Amino acid sequence: MRRKLSIMLSLATVASVSAQSSEKEIIRIATDNTDLVLEVGPNKRVYQTYLGPRLLHESDLQNLSWSQHAASDGSVSTRGWEVYSTSGNEDFFEPALGITHTDGNMTTYLYYVDSSQENVPGGVHTRINLKDDKYPVNVTLNYVAYNKENVIMTWTEISHQEKNNITMSQYASAMLYFNKPEYWLTEFSSDWAKEAQMSSQQLQFGKKVIDTKLGSRAAMHTHPFFEIGLNGPVKEHSGEVLMGTLGWTGNFRFTFEVDNVGNLRVIPGINPYASNYELKANEIFTTPEFIFTLSYDGAGQGSRNLHEWARKYGLKDGEQDRLTLLNNWENTAFDFNQEILAELMKEAKHLGVDMFLLDDGWFGNKYPRKDDHAGLGDWDVTHNKLPGGIAALVESAKEADVKFGIWIEPEMVNPKSELYEQHPDWVIEQPNRDTYYYRNQLVLDLSNPKVQDYVFNVVDNILTENPEVAYFKWDCNSPITNIYSPYAKDKQGQLYIDHVRGIYNVLKRIKEKYPDVPMMLCSGGGARCDYEALKYFTEFWCSDNTDPVERVYIQWGFSQFFPAKAMAAHVTSWNKNTSIKFRTDVAAMCKLGFDIGLKELSTDELAYCQQAVTNWKRLQPTVMDGDQYRLVSPYESNHAAVEYVDKSKNQAILFAYDLAPRFQEKLNAIKLQGLDPNKEYLVKEINLMPGTKSQFGQNDKVFTGDYLMKVGLDVFTWHHNTSTVIEINAR
Ligand code: DGJ
Repeated sequence: MRRKLSIMLSLATVASVSAQSSEKEIIRIATDNTDLVLEVGPNKRVYQTYLGPRLLHESDLQNLSWSQHAASDGSVSTRGWEVYSTSGNEDFFEPALGITHTDGNMTTYLYYVDSSQENVPGGVHTRINLKDDKYPVNVTLNYVAYNKENVIMTWTEISHQEKNNITMSQYASAMLYFNKPEYWLTEFSSDWAKEAQMSSQQLQFGKKVIDTKLGSRAAMHTHPFFEIGLNGPVKEHSGEVLMGTLGWTGNFRFTFEVDNVGNLRVIPGINPYASNYELKANEIFTTPEFIFTLSYDGAGQGSRNLHEWARKYGLKDGEQDRLTLLNNWENTAFDFNQEILAELMKEAKHLGVDMFLLDDGWFGNKYPRKDDHAGLGDWDVTHNKLPGGIAALVESAKEADVKFGIWIEPEMVNPKSELYEQHPDWVIEQPNRDTYYYRNQLVLDLSNPKVQDYVFNVVDNILTENPEVAYFKWDCNSPITNIYSPYAKDKQGQLYIDHVRGIYNVLKRIKEKYPDVPMMLCSGGGARCDYEALKYFTEFWCSDNTDPVERVYIQWGFSQFFPAKAMAAHVTSWNKNTSIKFRTDVAAMCKLGFDIGLKELSTDELAYCQQAVTNWKRLQPTVMDGDQYRLVSPYESNHAAVEYVDKSKNQAILFAYDLAPRFQEKLNAIKLQGLDPNKEYLVKEINLMPGTKSQFGQNDKVFTGDYLMKVGLDVFTWHHNTSTVIEINAR
């Protein structure tokens, strides 16, 4: 029996070791490379005993001890790493769960009931049931371990059978502990046009909190992901790093606390700010999913783990191709009509992209959307601007032989709209205070099911009347301002949460009815970028900042957590001082699109773009679905380089950028990664401006993968703001 069990453990990645008389009760949550080990302590509470590289010998699981991390002050018997620590227990540091029970008691103790494991696509789902012995409160911890991708997804369900509501002040998704010499946090701060800016700091005693209170445009100032270097600052190609992200499109909070003995706890979850949650008896509160990976080879490997997981399990249509497009926002803004759009559709075809995407400004009649002061909420085509309606636009797109996509911002309303006049009670707004506006708009109250229906109908009506609409760009430009819901009445504490749940209800209905319509998630740039939203969206808009220099940094940041196919990048006129080639090559590292008037381009520039589109489509399988290697960081040099390698190692694409090199600074060769050392590869520069010759000295030469990885290619130059794209094919 024991032999069978150990075989199962080594083969099946996860197994629950049932208690034998002399043995501890252990729950092992494992991927191919990582073990998360929990133990039911003698007091029947559950403790984390290990999180790190996978242990080779099952027998060692018994050597781990729940109390090994306890303080040496005599409290060993009572303080371990409780897996989901609760308020009022003997731990004294930040808990995961805080409950005020019906009788006013603010303590909760959770004891082990049972656990189970089942296979799910890609991994094993472990459920651990816990309950309080004094109050009828139940907690289920969930972990899905994705073996091959080395990703673990965890979330928690909380319920009770007390007579009245209990009040939850903390309800984290999970808790993880580390005992390492040093902890270095990399955070991703943000703002409009400044998304995913990476900075790092050492975590010392006490708490560091990253959170947002913005409600709807929730990730505007910080994104829902982080990295922790375990031993030293996060490095790209070496070192142990935890990379975690929360699937929640609303207020989130990450708490990192280093305690009195130098252990770190990481607590991800919904931000409970202004959100004391009244949980009804038998209602199940399900936290957002926290998705994490541990890499032992730096952030690069961690990103590849997450990219692979996302394409297979996280992202809508993660294994399908993406559409190239021409958008009109940067080109026309609100200033267009039917004829102009019909012309742009022809331009889209001429450029070679798959689709034309109509942006903001096509709707509203009583209050036409001619700028951002009016019209949001009234989703009827502006008749005197577009007399033929969406149908005529779809028709023009057909004539031009491109698909047609359309922009919406259905969660919002301008006070200057018929919707606001008719349903002022559908809006989040204070009843007794002056209203303040963000971009002249207010947020609809998605906690109200009637509002959910209305928002669903925005998409449903467009698609019912125009089934050939092929794509939506779903925008969200305002945070929740003037927080108050007429619908929630005396349950205002749930609004931030119920609002997000309302959005998911709508998105679920859309996905069920229109499973094949791709959608771009946009929030005034990249203020929505989480894996719960990305169950419904095929990609997100990284930033309105399309200056290619800035974009190198922004895309570098987002690429830590998202595969290239989830990241929309457009060629625009931002930073016209840079060449169209540079702008296009930066966008071509992600899901390529254009948002520029072709008339702005010279004949050569247009020919260049056409060629770049053709190349991108040809190379899409490698760039979108291959392994990404971030080779040279713009944060650490005056250059940047990113490489994509297809799974068979037969093709690689190298994107190299000279940003702002110093005069005659030392130029280093770019050492490639992920190739087959024994294959021979032909190295060829592509995406050349018409009439120019490659300046790349090793162009058209053949090298072994070994050479390319050990010696590398001399691609960088002393020019400013230039790019080189190299296609590398096995012979
Ligand atoms: C903000 C988005 O980020 C832009 O791309 C554009 O769609 C505008 N909103 C339209 O209002």
